[in-house]
Amino acid sequence: MGNYLFGNTGELLESHFGALSDLLDAGTFARIEQLGLPESARCLEIGGGGGSVTSWLADLVGPRGDITATDLDVDRLAPLERDNVTVLRHDVVRDVLPENAYDLVHARLVLIHLPERDAVLRKLVRALRPGGRLLLDEFDCRPLHVLTAPTPEDAELIMRVKDALLTLLEQAGADVTYGARIEKALRDNGLRDVAAVREVDEWQGGEAGCALLAGNVLQTRGRMPLPDPDVDRFVELMGDPAVVLSGYAVCSAWGTR
Ligand SMILES: C[S@@+](CC[C@H](N)C(=O)[O-])C[C@H]1O[C@@H](n2cnc3c(N)ncnc32)[C@H](O)[C@@H]1O
Repeated sequence: MGNYLFGNTGELLESHFGALSDLLDAGTFARIEQLGLPESARCLEIGGGGGSVTSWLADLVGPRGDITATDLDVDRLAPLERDNVTVLRHDVVRDVLPENAYDLVHARLVLIHLPERDAVLRKLVRALRPGGRLLLDEFDCRPLHVLTAPTPEDAELIMRVKDALLTLLEQAGADVTYGARIEKALRDNGLRDVAAVREVDEWQGGEAGCALLAGNVLQTRGRMPLPDPDVDRFVELMGDPAVVLSGYAVCSAWGTR
């Protein structure tokens, strides 16, 4: 499955996609609503993952609209197929996309993982019909740090595990600061009316942001140069309300072809 670090991680994917949905769906849905899609819009959801955005979009565009949802792994998308939803097992790096075709192209936390992100972005822009809108949601992982933890040793451990996770992501080809550059990337690709938002929230132990981190560390356990007790303590801390982190920056950028 290409370079994607969290692929093939079995049942851990359920909580991974659940945490992403809890953390990000409200913002994604608000931004898509702001874009004001035409009636019966034709939409492309790249790397649809757990399917929360695909389901919501299918309701938004109604029976006369049309959603194509793609992913390398369509296990969770396939059950969503219906009259206005087509699911494709598709590698956005290698496989072709229709051109001049969509009113909305959306990708959340997909390009961040792909070394070929610049070429993929050009492909996504070409998939838009003139007047179509592109929306990217990505993280900039740099703001992540500890605000409170039970002990200084716990705070140090959280940062050590976080650094190991980000190093592993980079070794797999991710650009963990990509969110900071998406607005410029959309402008550089000739889109007009480009705008962006960047939000850094507190992530408390037990909430979706910390659940995402705990899940990511479990998904990559064994590939990180960390002793098991450190991983176990990290996961425990991510469920402890005494932990408060400054989360990743959630960055969104959108523009019109
Ligand atoms: C971090 S998950 C995000 C899932 C979903 N977009 C969300 O935000 O909830 C990244 C998704 O991108 C998919 N993916 C990774 N590389 C891909 C590729 N080359 N082509 C299509 N999908 C890919 C993964 O399988 C995974 O479902």
